[in-house]
Amino acid sequence: MSWYHDAVVYETHVRSFADGNGDGYGDFAGLTDKLDYLVDLGITAIWLLPFFPSPLRDDGYDVSDYTAVDPRYGTLEDFARFVDRAHRRGLKVITEFVLNHTSDRHPWFQRARHSPAGSSERDFYVWSDTPDRYGDARIIFTDSETSNWAWDPVAGAWYWHRFYAHQPDLNYDNPAVRQAVVEVADFWLDLGVDGLRLDAVPYLYERDGTSCENLPETHAFLKDLRAHVDARYGGDRMLLAEANQWPVDAAAYFGNGDECHMNYHFPLMPRMFLALARGRRDPIDWVLDRTPPIPPSCRWGTFLRNHDELTLEMVTDAERREMYAAYATDPRAKLNIGIRRRLAPLLGDDSRRILLLFSLLLSMPGTPFVYYGDEIGMGDDLDLPDRNGVRTPMQWSDAPHGGFTTATPYMPVIDDAVYGYRRRNVAAQRQDPGSLWNAVRRLLHLRRDHPALRRGTTVWHAPDDPALVSFSRRHDGVSIHVVANLAARPATIQGDRGGIDLLGGGPSPTGSWTLPPYGVRWILEDR
Ligand code: GLC
Repeated sequence: MSWYHDAVVYETHVRSFADGNGDGYGDFAGLTDKLDYLVDLGITAIWLLPFFPSPLRDDGYDVSDYTAVDPRYGTLEDFARFVDRAHRRGLKVITEFVLNHTSDRHPWFQRARHSPAGSSERDFYVWSDTPDRYGDARIIFTDSETSNWAWDPVAGAWYWHRFYAHQPDLNYDNPAVRQAVVEVADFWLDLGVDGLRLDAVPYLYERDGTSCENLPETHAFLKDLRAHVDARYGGDRMLLAEANQWPVDAAAYFGNGDECHMNYHFPLMPRMFLALARGRRDPIDWVLDRTPPIPPSCRWGTFLRNHDELTLEMVTDAERREMYAAYATDPRAKLNIGIRRRLAPLLGDDSRRILLLFSLLLSMPGTPFVYYGDEIGMGDDLDLPDRNGVRTPMQWSDAPHGGFTTATPYMPVIDDAVYGYRRRNVAAQRQDPGSLWNAVRRLLHLRRDHPALRRGTTVWHAPDDPALVSFSRRHDGVSIHVVANLAARPATIQGDRGGIDLLGGGPSPTGSWTLPPYGVRWILEDR
């Protein structure tokens, strides 16, 4: 087992977390000061969204310099200090590796468009004389793009882009690109980064007559990258694929344990919400039945929310309609093929339902990812464009701007009657034993204290009542039985063996007993 098998990953944006120098932007100094907060919460690894120089037209996923820190967030020295301080506290650091595309401001693209057609410099990107090639590739940002090709008047040619038109795709058929990209990975791994999130990794290559996703060439490149990383750094660095694909295609990114160590389980995420909306476990059963076994060294990354919209790409059309009806009642919440909301507003700020999903996330197999602010039930701002509404400043206290900054923040802090920082903030919830923050912390600490919840084999049960999700995690002679009621009505468990109720404290009943609406038990079984 490696560190990522035991990890709980906290996803945050340097810009959004804490402002250390009073300029309105979060920075590495502020983040470093908050490391004790994360350790206390029970977090073991931090995933940082892009912090590289960028025109910020896709919030930093439009990189204009791969090997520097945006000056608003600090310097490379600040970054190195942050990594060192994180490591001293036992925290691992995962950074973004946006390897599919760059910003059109990147010097590689500027050089490409001015270089002669056919030169290696021009061929850093994918060019065409017509916008008709690769017509079978879908469009991802359906709300803003109508084609995967954009015209460049300087080059006098069309260039390929899977995301925004200002994000040209790199050309992985060019060996100089592959070499340059591996050097970027080395740059950050040399600085001590423990894991790289491979952004938008299914789209590296293009081939006629295909969807241009998950191509064999992409897997071959990833296997080469993995071999390189293992050889150069030993075995403890981690590659995390962002491959939003159906389970079998997603599992292919593990290879035979020789490709990526981790990949997110995108198809599971929306089905946890769907199961809750239906009050039935069948969507979860359905997707787990279709999830192939993976090599023991690999791990699914599980999550409820992240910095993007709740993507509905990996559900059927009927399921998507059901999800929109249940969770996007405000039409402004729809974005591309998904719902741009945070966890608490999605669940109507019902703490029972929020804790139900947290307790499944933190007990089901996989390595869980927690999105910053969801531990206090932060809200979102649907008036902000794109996905910015779920990327507002962290709410630390009831001080001006939520204690995030002493200056005007880069984006307004949530200040509404329900989710606003005056009422909803870390300081207040830390003091309140009944708060969401304290409940989430308790779950995280139980996970830390019970290896069965992290490493255990999983046995799924099929209770008679379809509202119940029930499984056991077993490790080293310890068995923890998790049972959760997805319905808004009580549900009866039959023939239970009993044990210690880890969430409530005290003994858990044996035989037949009833869980309240949205109730959950983690039962340490007597064996
Ligand atoms: C990934 C990121 C998303 C970004 C896109 C393009 O899907 O999660 O935020 O917009 O890649 O880089």
